[in-house]
Amino acid sequence: MSEIGVFEFKGKRYEFPVEIGTENEISIDIKTLRGTTGGIITMDPGFKNTGSCKSEITFLDGEKGILRHRGYAIEDLTKKASFLEVAYLIIFGELPTKEQFAKFEGDIKKKSLLNEEIKDILDGFPRSAHPMGVVSSLTGALTAFHPKYTDVHSEEEIYNAITNILGKFPVIAAWAHAKNEGTPFNYADNSLGYVENMLMMMYKIPTTKYKTNPVVLKAMEELLILHQDHEQNCSTSTVRLVGSSHASLFASVSAGISALWGPLHGGANKAVIEMLEEIIEDGGDVEKFINKAKDKKDPFRLMGFGHRVYKNFDPRALIIKESADAVLADLGVTDPTLKVAKHLEEVALSDPYFVDRKLFPNVDFYSGIIYRALGIPVEMFTVMFAIGRLPGWIAQWKEMRKNNEPIGRPRQLYMGAPKRDFKEVSER
Ligand code: ACO
Repeated sequence: MSEIGVFEFKGKRYEFPVEIGTENEISIDIKTLRGTTGGIITMDPGFKNTGSCKSEITFLDGEKGILRHRGYAIEDLTKKASFLEVAYLIIFGELPTKEQFAKFEGDIKKKSLLNEEIKDILDGFPRSAHPMGVVSSLTGALTAFHPKYTDVHSEEEIYNAITNILGKFPVIAAWAHAKNEGTPFNYADNSLGYVENMLMMMYKIPTTKYKTNPVVLKAMEELLILHQDHEQNCSTSTVRLVGSSHASLFASVSAGISALWGPLHGGANKAVIEMLEEIIEDGGDVEKFINKAKDKKDPFRLMGFGHRVYKNFDPRALIIKESADAVLADLGVTDPTLKVAKHLEEVALSDPYFVDRKLFPNVDFYSGIIYRALGIPVEMFTVMFAIGRLPGWIAQWKEMRKNNEPIGRPRQLYMGAPKRDFKEVSER
């Protein structure tokens, strides 16, 4: 493509190459901007217009509501593939053959035992510790238990780190949950599939036999697939940025978990339920809360609405909505929060404030309702998101290493005091 981007400043003209992506997205490559202009930088807080990398993993079109991984539509992947198959696709680029899948799954299962000393670390946390903090800490702690896998220059050790973290992460999550609940720590059962195993470790208590509900398993598998990757969101960018310093996969993912924790990102699924409960406790006046969300003087926002990229319906929210209905019907749950959620959705989708700003329900709007129906406590909602997002973080970290991307280091515009003389304390 011969097109160029032109920038003019103080009568001088600077040209920059234009690059076109697979789906005709256009980018202006400004790598040489600072050097050629004598120090000019771009300013883009929140990186709303800034591409940080080239990626082959996920395509999403926020205007059209499209999400594809490695070319496959999210609607096909959720209906036709298992969580681990999609993980393989995202991480390695192709859907696995039977043999490739058997090896991958076997390698993950081999790594599903946590070092018993991890229990000593867990002992040090208070019972009330938020599981996201615990999960982030224990994921970082894997660097201490498996130092060999922190070698970011060895393909073999990177593969070991990938299978290790995939094997251990659901156990870490289940143990963080057990710590909160005061229930025994369960171990993986390698005769079960990945998601079934995760559910078993979360719910099994020694006094009763654990039995998987197929409707719940299907919904959970779909839900976790939906969360696997979403290109350069806040936590994924964090993982890539931390990894760009050649920090290990464990350290990078641990940082990603912290980024996901915030209520404007993965923490929104918890915030949605809290908001719905608040509306019910307040008497159920949905319009009142809609008005609060529209009032610029009120910090209240409709949680689960709006998205940085989707300016159309979040395709994941459409799939989740169906799953939520199936799970609630199967479990016979009549959740008053669902009624409020539907009312809220109807009002918001017809209100010019939300319509004009293209604020649609996002993935977190319905996921919290499913988690709640399954009896998962709100503190664990974002941990469930992290279990789902793990393959995406891995894939993005691996791609960043493969492309040998430079260390991430943005610039800034300094707006502080100019040079001034130091004053002794007696003169201040
Ligand atoms: N409720 C009310 N108003 C909203 C909302 C909301 N949920 N979201 C955005 N707006 C308004 C803003 O006030 C702003 O209005 P203005 O143009 O009059 O000033 C306009 O819509 C644009 O909003 P921004 O904050 O600039 O949009 P941005 O892309 O930066 O934010 C975000 C996206 C953070 C997701 C935002 O929509 C939000 O806070 N949503 C609620 C939290 C949430 O659900 N987060 C989960 C996101 S999905 C995920 O991480 C998996």
